[in-house]
Amino acid sequence: MRAGLFNYWALLSSSDIFRFMEKKGTRTLHHQDAITWLESSPILSASSFVTSLPDVSEFPALSLEEWKSWFSRAVSLILSRCPDEGVAIFYQTDVKREGTWVDKGYLCQNAADRAGSSLLWHKVVCRIPPGKISFGRPAYSHLLCFSKGVKAEVPRSTQDVLVSAGEATWTRGMGVDACLLACRFILSETTTRTVVDPFCGHGTVLAVANELGLDAIGVELSSKRVKKAKALQCLNFQLA
Ligand SMILES: C[S@@+](CC[C@H](N)C(=O)[O-])C[C@H]1O[C@@H](n2cnc3c(N)ncnc32)[C@H](O)[C@@H]1O
Repeated sequence: MRAGLFNYWALLSSSDIFRFMEKKGTRTLHHQDAITWLESSPILSASSFVTSLPDVSEFPALSLEEWKSWFSRAVSLILSRCPDEGVAIFYQTDVKREGTWVDKGYLCQNAADRAGSSLLWHKVVCRIPPGKISFGRPAYSHLLCFSKGVKAEVPRSTQDVLVSAGEATWTRGMGVDACLLACRFILSETTTRTVVDPFCGHGTVLAVANELGLDAIGVELSSKRVKKAKALQCLNFQLA
């Protein structure tokens, strides 16, 4: 697929379009280690987080147990920099390693418990159609939302199971539908208007946030991906 162009044909509401025509959000990129960046940041007032932390396969020098510690620390740091009025949303796919199932949803929830953040919702995003056997990575991803101060309004619930994450620019990328759901929740259920993705990759979260009029901050270690994240745009949006 061509990076920079999502042939994405769903889900923007008329108020999203109005927002888009009214104002596009700003985008700031930091080419840096996210852990160092988070450690040196204060609590990011008026901000929420949407991110997808790197998998153990991206850390060949670490054992599984070392990666789990790294992952838990990164989640804790994100939650510690998220203000009470914000939410932290994680999109993670489990892995099967050494004959065990590594549940990243559990790792996030464990860190959130320790940080005093509550789980507002836990959605399942299908990676392949339900009912099919997946021998590699599990058939679904987790989409988890935590906050210290925001509460989920039950009458405004959205779907618990997403049939797909939507289009993505690369295999490790977050799909556009999942990004839209996360950013819309931030827009409608919080007062925060900046979305931070400390592991932004190609910048899908940032591009979708900007499209909805939200400001976006991305951090990424790879210079190649920083370049992509600066340029990525969501084009061809259409009313559902
Ligand atoms: C799962 S991918 C994120 C994909 C992204 N959501 C997208 O849609 O393109 C994780 C990203 O984290 C980056 N990364 C890994 N370690 C990092 C670190 N210490 N600091 C910042 N970025 C890091 C990787 O280069 C990779 O792009």
